[in-house]
This record gives sequence, structure tokens and C-alpha cells, in this order.
Amino acid sequence: MTQSKLWGGRFSEDTDAFVEAFTASVGFDQRMYAQDIAGSLAHAAMLQKIGVLSAQDLTDIQTGLAAIKAEIESGEFEWSVGLEDVHMNIEAALTAKIGDAGKRLHTGRSRNDQVATDIRLYLRDACTEVEQELIRLATGYLDLASRNTDTIMPGFTHLQTAQPVTAGHHVMAWFEMAMRDLSRLQDCARRMNQSPLGAAALAGTTYPIDREMTASTLGFDGVCLNSLDAVSDRDFVIEFCAFAATTIMHLSRISEELVLWSSAQFDFIALPDRFCTGSSIMPQKKNPDVPELIRGKSGRVTGHLMSLLMLMKGQPLTYNKDNQEDKEPLFDTIDTLLGSLRAFADMVPAIEFKRESLISAAKKGFATATDLADYLVVKGVPFRDAHEIVGKAVGAGVEQQRDLADFTLDELQQFSPLITADVFDILTLEGSVASRNHIGGTAPEQVKHAVAQGHQRLSAAKQ
Ligand code: ARG
Repeated sequence: MTQSKLWGGRFSEDTDAFVEAFTASVGFDQRMYAQDIAGSLAHAAMLQKIGVLSAQDLTDIQTGLAAIKAEIESGEFEWSVGLEDVHMNIEAALTAKIGDAGKRLHTGRSRNDQVATDIRLYLRDACTEVEQELIRLATGYLDLASRNTDTIMPGFTHLQTAQPVTAGHHVMAWFEMAMRDLSRLQDCARRMNQSPLGAAALAGTTYPIDREMTASTLGFDGVCLNSLDAVSDRDFVIEFCAFAATTIMHLSRISEELVLWSSAQFDFIALPDRFCTGSSIMPQKKNPDVPELIRGKSGRVTGHLMSLLMLMKGQPLTYNKDNQEDKEPLFDTIDTLLGSLRAFADMVPAIEFKRESLISAAKKGFATATDLADYLVVKGVPFRDAHEIVGKAVGAGVEQQRDLADFTLDELQQFSPLITADVFDILTLEGSVASRNHIGGTAPEQVKHAVAQGHQRLSAAKQ
């Protein structure tokens, strides 16, 4: 069905039906209806103040837009592909309702500054929602860490047993990732909060508009200072997606750990049943679906960031229709990230570290070898020589399938006569972690301190 176009004046034939559907964005940009209406209300109030609209026009526009909003929210509103996008659908409906005042609304404005405004408003709200989930997740990390400040587990490099650490310390590493993500989010939310409204198509407008007024009505911190940039800039979308890709990359890394750790081979943690699913054929299976899926979804979010960078890289100033392609990747990024954060924030505090199993894992793989070398250094052996001596002891342990702590004092003294009975204090896992007692170290005392500070840092970050 052909609908009369709001821009139909200079055209002598109807748009090709396929082209109409192909170029339309209403299928996905209608989710910005509330922002579009808020922008129109702010613009109309400003036009009335500068004398372009009468008081009656303004009242009609306000009443009309309120009715349209209610129709959209109740599902009665009929979206038309022929009207291309959310902006023209709402404008046409307004004119159908209130007549000429509806046609005057678009004075001193273009869809170019309108869409740029709508996306900023939409994304600003999304940032607030994402921020809340991220804070909830960070709080979950603190909670999990505080319950495991003295839970000992093997720490890894190259996925080989390296040195014993506390599980609380490991979880606090996740917390640090989340805090950096939060700071990136807040930074990008602050930078995006500038109003493009008034830039019109690209060059500004001949009407004596009050940009500060519309900006402050809409809760922006200020106005975009160059009209050409205002309509064509999508940096704020890219920045958000870069933040999102980094955040979900972190979730993906942590997911990988959760998947490994919940396997029978590692047996480090139990994930609550409500975050897992079973197998239709293997009755014993409990699959860590949530972390697996989030690991998978990280690829999609990273892909959206790449799409947006590619979308922008070839565009000359100012607005180009290409920009319509910004919305689907952005919306999917928001949805995917919010869902992933929500699932993670729900799941993390319910993770249970299996203490016994972690201790026996930490005992495998000579996790306290560095402690023995450090012990010899204190006794005056140069570190490289100490490394060599302990290497020999580890070699003997591998051959005889015994941990360093299983050797007798006599046996240890074969490797160095400087070893005395106090060596067993440091060959234990507890001794090993407790001795790394400095800021950022794995000692239970430090982890408790880090958790307490984490709470303070988080409440300061909430602003
Ligand atoms: N639907 C368009 C978009 O999403 C709105 C702006 C279109 N402006 C234009 N002059 N065609 O970017």
C-alpha cells in the first residue's frame, strides 16, 4: 500500500515497494518512541517560546503526543513501513490527529538531528540500566570473595599449577575487571550527554532557536558545538560498544574458568542447579550452560563493535543513510550485555568453592616450590642457585610421586644443608599464602582488606 510521503513534494512516482521496505527502519527504531516523543515535546516548547508556535499549537502537540504515546504503549498504534521510521510514523500520526500544528512541529529541525538526539537519549537510559547490573555483579564478587578469603586453591600461569592463592583473591581479580568496566561506562555516559538538537539537517537553522533550552529540558549537560559533527557523530555508540565488548570479554574469560572448574576433572566449584541444564541422553550431566552461552555471546558483541567501526570509517561528513545501520548492532549489544550481566549477577554469589578438592589440587604440581627457593635466599643462597636446588628437589618429587612437603628433613637436606626444620612452615599451603602479605597480595589478611576497600570504592563509584 502506498502512503503519502512527508517528503513527497518533488517526486513524480511512488517508491518501489521493495525499496520502501528495504530502506525502512521502523521495524527496529520504534523502540526509541519515548525518546522521540520527549525530543519533540522539548523542541515544541522551545518553538513556542521563540514565537514560532502559538500557545494553542503547543497544547495541541502536547495532547496529541501524549495520546500517541498511550496508543504505542497499549499496542494500538499502527506502525507503517511506508512511513519509513519512528520519526515520520509519529509525526504523521500527530498531524492526522491535530492538523496543521502537527505540520509545524518539524520547523527548524531535521530527522538528522532528531535521530542523533533519540539515540543519545535512548543509550543514556540504557547506560543507567547497565550500570545498575554491573554494580550488582561487582557486589556479588565482593560477597563471594568475602566468604573465601582463606579458601586455598592452586593459582595458574599457562594453566599449569604455579603458586597457591586464595579463592577470594582470585575473585577479587574479577572485581578489578568490573571496576574498570564501570569506570569506562561512566566515562562514555558522561561524554555522550550533549544535545545535537538544533543542528537540523547539518548546518543549523535560520530560526532564532534556543539550543540550551531544549538541551536542559532533555537533561543534557550541554549542546554539541558543531552542527556538522552533531548530525554525523556516532562515536558515542562506538564507545559504548567498546565498553560492552570489553565487559563481555571479561565475562567470557570468567565463564571459561567456571566451565573448567565445574568439570569433574577440576572439581573446584559447584554451580547452583538453577543455572545449569541436563542432557537428554546422559543422565549424569549437569552442563554449565549460562557461562558457556555468555562465552559464546561475547563473539557477537565484539562483532557489533567491528560492524560499527566499519560503518563509520568511510563516511564523509555529514549524515549519510549508512547511519541507519547503527541501531541494530547497538540495540543487540545493549540486550545481550544486559542479559549476560543479569545472569552473572544472579549466579556469582551462589557459586560454591569446594575447599577439600581445591586443597588437594593445590597440593599437586609443587605449588610451594617458589617458597622453598625464597627460603633458601633468606638463608644466603643467590636466587638462581636456589632455583636450581629446588628444581632438583622437584625432579626427585616427580620421580617418586611425592610433594615437597612429603620429604623428610634428612631428604631435603640432601639438596641443601642450609634447610632446617622450620622449612615445613613454608612448605604448607597456608604458610605460602599467608606470607604474601602486602597490598595486592594473596594473603587472607590482604584479601579481607581488599574486600573492605572494594565496598568503599563501589559506593564512591555509585556517585
Ligand atoms: N531512519 C533514519 C536513521 O535511522 C533517520 C534519519 C534519516 N534522515 C534522512 N535524511 N534520511 O538514520
